[in-house]
Amino acid sequence: MNPARESEQNPFLRGNFAPWRLEGDAEDLEVVGRIPPELDGTWYRNGPNPAYEPRGTYHWFDGDGMIHAIRLRDGRASYRNRWVRSAGLAEERTAGRALYPGLLEMGGGETAGFKNTANTNVVLHARRLLALMEAAPPTELDPVSLDTRGEYTFDGRLSGPMTAHPKIDPETGEMLFFGYSPVPPFLQYHVADRSGRLCRSEAIDVAWPSMMHDFAITKNHVVFILCPLVFSFENMRERGGAFSWEPERGTRLGVMPRNGGNADVRWFETDPCYVFHPMNAYDDGRTIVLDVARYDRLGFMTPKAARDPGWRDADAARLQRWRLDLAGGGVTLTPHDDRSGEFPRVDERRVGRPHRWGYMAVVGADQAEERMPRWTAIRRYDLARGTFETRAFGPASGVGEPVFVPRRPDAAEDDGWVLCLAYDGDRNASDFYVLDARDVAGEPVAVVRLPHRIPYGFHGNWAARTAA
Ligand SMILES: [Fe+2]
Repeated sequence: MNPARESEQNPFLRGNFAPWRLEGDAEDLEVVGRIPPELDGTWYRNGPNPAYEPRGTYHWFDGDGMIHAIRLRDGRASYRNRWVRSAGLAEERTAGRALYPGLLEMGGGETAGFKNTANTNVVLHARRLLALMEAAPPTELDPVSLDTRGEYTFDGRLSGPMTAHPKIDPETGEMLFFGYSPVPPFLQYHVADRSGRLCRSEAIDVAWPSMMHDFAITKNHVVFILCPLVFSFENMRERGGAFSWEPERGTRLGVMPRNGGNADVRWFETDPCYVFHPMNAYDDGRTIVLDVARYDRLGFMTPKAARDPGWRDADAARLQRWRLDLAGGGVTLTPHDDRSGEFPRVDERRVGRPHRWGYMAVVGADQAEERMPRWTAIRRYDLARGTFETRAFGPASGVGEPVFVPRRPDAAEDDGWVLCLAYDGDRNASDFYVLDARDVAGEPVAVVRLPHRIPYGFHGNWAARTAA
């Protein structure tokens, strides 16, 4: 063992963070329980999965995208996984080794360029399956074979990167998104219509360039979340890197009417924080309600944190609610929960509309404090009553983003299933859970036992067969 190898010393390349380097297909997986026949479609999940030993310091956000797909039909389950075959990965395949620098080496005199890993999310819109990472355009995949079709720029209309967190309006079918950049324009807003045609792009003025991971929409507004995680190649020596945490700037929430533009953005100031992920937002004309997984501070984007994130529960994200007073100005913050967590989701039919129920991966009560981001329970929140139910998977587990699927297109907001992937440390393999959304703590509706582990990853979505 060579101690200089990054994979021997970086915890994001070890345990169930380590990449899975096989691609495969498995039919008729073992199912405990019964998969409801209404679940007819595919659950897709993306995550970082480096194909080669990294050249230098590896950050969790650096790995090549790998798509894991679980297809459910007639009560049966099958599995397929494929790397996103980016142009950069193809070059590395030819060379037989890693060629590209990691994210934290960007701007440091590196000339090797940049790889569009497409490793963060996978979203179906207008029958196109898009693998997304926030620093680059989308990568289109075949929804069934998962073969990579190549970068997709909306017929050449998209200039610049696209967030991994577009929002699909449940009424209009539009896909709203943005892209951020360390060089001007720092922020651009885009809309693709329900047919997938990019019909609007607009530069948005911001007070500083920042790593803006996600945003929120309501029926009438878009909300940009400008946190003091500055992303710039200027003054890097003084700032300590391309990413720097500068809390004295505070956080600003930019509210833009969906029928307005850059000139109409109103910025609301609030305390410094970082938000990777909102749960959802809505407005009633006077107030915007925005539920977020909110960190008081973020130390995750430094070279030191790449190898030792020093994750502290006290600093981790918690589900909290912002209320933005559109008439009087001002922002209030109220907590929903003391337990830390990540990957908040709602019923996709409620995006931008009032939601009562939400789902999030949280730290388990039986989980010891550790220096890595890991969650071992799922919480389902009733935000009207201020209550929650918890399903714990055990201290040796690791659970990913919970995805809600309605029982029928017109089912009630909480009538359906919660899908999530959980790593079973005892079996060193992953299980795919189908939980009754009204009884997440009860007996699972079904558990699909996968033949191997799926590394901890980021985001995914359910696509009904009729949509793909
Ligand atoms: Fe994300």
